[in-house]
Amino acid sequence: MNRSDATECSVPTRRRHPLDLFTSGFAGLVVRPVSSAYARLLLCLWGARVGRGLQVMGRIRMRLLGTLTVGDWVHIRSGYANYVGGHQPMAIWICSGGHVTIGDRCRLSNTTVVCKAEVAILPETLIGGGSRIYDTDFHQLDPLDRLSNTGPVASAPIRIGPRAFLGGHVTVLKGVTIGEGAVIGAGSIVTRDVPAFEVWAGVPARLIRVLPPPSSGRTLLQNDSASGQGV
Ligand SMILES: CC(C)(COP(=O)(O)OP(=O)(O)OC[C@H]1O[C@@H](n2cnc3c(N)ncnc32)[C@H](O)[C@@H]1OP(=O)(O)O)[C@@H](O)C(=O)NCCC(=O)NCCS
Repeated sequence: MNRSDATECSVPTRRRHPLDLFTSGFAGLVVRPVSSAYARLLLCLWGARVGRGLQVMGRIRMRLLGTLTVGDWVHIRSGYANYVGGHQPMAIWICSGGHVTIGDRCRLSNTTVVCKAEVAILPETLIGGGSRIYDTDFHQLDPLDRLSNTGPVASAPIRIGPRAFLGGHVTVLKGVTIGEGAVIGAGSIVTRDVPAFEVWAGVPARLIRVLPPPSSGRTLLQNDSASGQGV
């Protein structure tokens, strides 16, 4: 399929299937407030600091032994609230001493975050379904240390954004910084720093092209939660 075919092929958006009621209209009225309130309660019980306007669809798996800070108007979709990566829920596992920050107006779907050191997802970043962010190798590299679980495990902080976009099923490994407005292609594994306003993709991710920075004064997302779609 060449580029002109791609632009002619449009997806009908107005015709709705009755089951859509449960994933959009009905969810908007009932499911979202209930699951958002439940997620907020669980997060607070785990000691997280949660900002205003958190919206959660589905259940989040969490184990928060470190600290978690969630900014304002964050949207999270877990499980089949987003078909992309819907077989896995949103999961946040912070080890003792780890720090995770999810900035204002970030949107995450079915993302697994494992943090031993620090993971900072900066404001207005979108993370696609089934993505994984691991700031640690989990295990020692030496086989005997690994079997006996002795010795240090390599871990290093991760920083993503602001206004970055990770496609579906991206993996970000320890020590990586993904710059402002950067885009990571679906299925990529990011092992090196990605400069601002660049598109990287592949395994391991490599530069595809450079984006123009957004024109000054333009706001990419609204300041509230009402607009826009999940990712
Ligand atoms: C990264 C992305 C935005 C690039 O789109 P684009 O600028 O239109 O790029 P193109 O399709 O022109 O591809 C440019 C090159 O990058 C390669 N490429 C694009 N996406 C890639 C990916 N995910 N992995 C590996 N290579 C990729 C293409 O093969 C092409 O290589 P070539 O020049 O050697 O032929 C897009 O491919 C993508 O992955 N979008 C994310 C979709 C998604 O997951 N959404 C979220 C769902 S929850």
